[in-house]
Amino acid sequence: MFASFGFKAVQFSKIIRGTNLKSILLIGGAGYIGPVIAQELLNQEHKVTVLDLLIYNNDIGVKALVNNPNFKFILGDFCRARVLDDALTGITDVIILGGLVGDPITKKYPIESYAINDVGILNCISLLKKKNLNKVIFISTCSNYGLIANDEVASENFPLSPLSLYSKSKVKAEQFILTKDSETNYIPTVIRFATAFGIAPRMRFDLTVNEFVAELYFNKKLDIFDADTWRPYCHVNDFAKLIKLVLDAPENLVSFEVFNAGSDSNNCTKRSLVRLISEFIPHCDLRFLSHGSDPRNYKVNFNKVQNILGFQSEYSLEKGVEDLIYSLEQGSFDNYLDNKNYFGNYEIEYTRHV
Ligand SMILES: NC(=O)c1ccc[n+]([C@@H]2O[C@H](COP(=O)([O-])OP(=O)(O)OC[C@H]3O[C@@H](n4cnc5c(N)ncnc54)[C@H](O)[C@@H]3O)[C@@H](O)[C@H]2O)c1
Repeated sequence: MFASFGFKAVQFSKIIRGTNLKSILLIGGAGYIGPVIAQELLNQEHKVTVLDLLIYNNDIGVKALVNNPNFKFILGDFCRARVLDDALTGITDVIILGGLVGDPITKKYPIESYAINDVGILNCISLLKKKNLNKVIFISTCSNYGLIANDEVASENFPLSPLSLYSKSKVKAEQFILTKDSETNYIPTVIRFATAFGIAPRMRFDLTVNEFVAELYFNKKLDIFDADTWRPYCHVNDFAKLIKLVLDAPENLVSFEVFNAGSDSNNCTKRSLVRLISEFIPHCDLRFLSHGSDPRNYKVNFNKVQNILGFQSEYSLEKGVEDLIYSLEQGSFDNYLDNKNYFGNYEIEYTRHV
C-alpha cells in the first residue's frame, strides 16, 4: 500500500539521568512539520521516535532520518492503544502532531476525522496521562480563533470560535489536555501554530503560502477569494526552534500554558501575500473574488511566546517565498502539476482504524 524502505529498529535506553538528553515521541511526525522538528531534535542529540500511519503514502517525510542511529520509525496507528503503548517504551517526552490536518480533508472524510481527531486523540491523551512522562506538547492551531471581526488581534485568552470540524476537534483536545485531573502527572503545553510555510521533506502545497507560490510559478494565474482576510504564518524551521524552547523551558513557564506560535510581522492578508509573490514572479494573472468557501479571518498576537520563551521567528514571508521559488527553479518539484495529490492532504491513501 505504501512504499517501503529500510526502517531501522533501534532500541532506546531510558533517559540518561543527569543529562538533558531526552527520548522524544513524535506522534504523527512523518507529515509536513514533524520531520523538520525531528531533525532539529536529533541535531540536539536527543533520541527521536516517530509513530505515524503514513496515511498519505508520505514515507518521504522520514526517509532522510532513518539512517540516524538516534532515530526510530514506527509504522502504526496512534488510535490503537497497544500500538501507542508500545511506542511509549523508554519515552520521556511526547509531541502530538498527528491527525487529519486541515479544513478540507476533515470535511471530505468526516468519519475518519471523528475517529482520529476526536476519539483517537482524546484516548491518546488519556493513555499518556497514565505514563510517567515529563512533557507532553499538544500541537493545535490558530484556526481556532475562526472569524474575528473589527481587526481585533487574538492573544491566547481571546474567545475561540472554531468554524470547521478540524478546529472544533482541536478545541476539544486542548480543553481535555489542559484539564487538571489527578491522573495528569506530566507537564502539558498547548501550542497554537500559525499556518505553516517553507520547504520540508514531505512538502504540502495545499497551504496558502506554498500553494500561492506554486500556482503562480507553474500556472501564472490564481483566483484569490476574500483577499482582505488576515492570517498568521510561520516557517516550519521556526516551529522546530520553538519546540526545542518548550522542551528546554522550566516547568513553571510552560505547565498548563497555551502559546500562539508565529510572529506579529507574519500576520498578512491574502492580497499582501500575492503582492509579495508577484514581486518575484512578474506578469501573474490574478483574479480577486469574494465569498469563498473559507470564511476564516484572524490576526494573532504573539507577545506571550516572545516574552516568556524568547521566541522570535527567523523567517519572514519574503524569505520563505524567495526560498520556495529558488527550489522550484532548481526543479525540486517539477512533478507538481502531474501529481498534485501527492503534495498535500487531499486523499487518504491508507487507514486501518475505521
Ligand atoms: N501545517 C499547518 O499549516 C499547521 C497549522 C496549524 C497547526 N498545525 C498542526 O501541526 C501538526 C502537524 O501538521 P502537518 O502540516 O505536519 O500535518 P500532516 O497532515 O502533514 O501530518 C500529519 C501526520 O499525521 C499522520 N496521521 C494521521 N492519522 C494518524 C493515525 N491515526 N496514526 C498515526 N499517524 C497518523 C499522517 O500520516 C501525517 O503524517 C498538526 O497537529 C496540525 O494540526 C499545522
